[in-house]
Amino acid sequence: MQELEAPHTHWFSSTTEGGSALLADFHAAHGTAEPYGPIPAAMIDHSDPGLMADFITAAGFAEQPNVFHSATIEAEVKAIAPAQPASNVPKGWSTTWADLYQGSVDGQFIPAPYHDVKITDPTKLAHMTSVYRAGSPLTEDIRDVFLDDGLWEMGFAPLPTLDGHQLLVQQCQQCHNARLDPTITRDHFLVDQLDQMTRDEKDLAIQRIQLGVDTRLSMPPPLFRSLDDRERQLMIDELRR
Ligand code: HEC
Repeated sequence: MQELEAPHTHWFSSTTEGGSALLADFHAAHGTAEPYGPIPAAMIDHSDPGLMADFITAAGFAEQPNVFHSATIEAEVKAIAPAQPASNVPKGWSTTWADLYQGSVDGQFIPAPYHDVKITDPTKLAHMTSVYRAGSPLTEDIRDVFLDDGLWEMGFAPLPTLDGHQLLVQQCQQCHNARLDPTITRDHFLVDQLDQMTRDEKDLAIQRIQLGVDTRLSMPPPLFRSLDDRERQLMIDELRR
């Protein structure tokens, strides 16, 4: 959880403006009587991200390398796009967020959460809400609700200006760096030690980048990242060096 500070952007909460906007979208699809997984319907509006932040702090993790300063970022976004957070188009922007984002581009820590409260495309979300409300069997993949224009700022797509080496850092280093558990096979491929990688390991990485997204061996894992052919080729060219 990177949003330890109130108002905890991206978390359901009926006591914050952003949290209420997210709850409204949730209730538009799910009503107020439907449980969410094991969470009873009556409990959903009582969601309190402050308790989660307290829990993480009590466990000794108050010091985070990549704190998302919720209050500052939300204020900067609103100054640029006053209809936020209820309406997230046009997109917002925040210089505080941009600094945080740059740290993740440089491979210092995991991707920063999106600068705006909502990550959804309002047209797609309205459509999928009606598909969901029409009941089962579902006729479409209702997860397809992301705002395409914001994918790189959400961390799913790369920053468009990166070269091959920078792409490997942003796209792979989160899971492939020397600070992680060295005893598992994932650590055979380390982006922060690329100059010491064997030719065989680099070739394996090229193979894994070239796999289709329909296999679990595909790198980077499609659940976390979506890359186009140009970006894959830039990384491959770097690994061939
Ligand atoms: C979200 C985490 C994650 C990201 C991001 C990620 N990987 Fe992986 N990678 C894994 C895990 C977990 C494994 C071990 C399981 C496996 O082999 O599939 C792995 C395994 C590998 C291996 C095999 C290592 C070996 O010798 O067995 C290679 C090569 C690899 N990844 C390359 C990449 C490249 C290149 C990228 C970026 C384009 C990338 N990975 C991004 C999690 C990730």
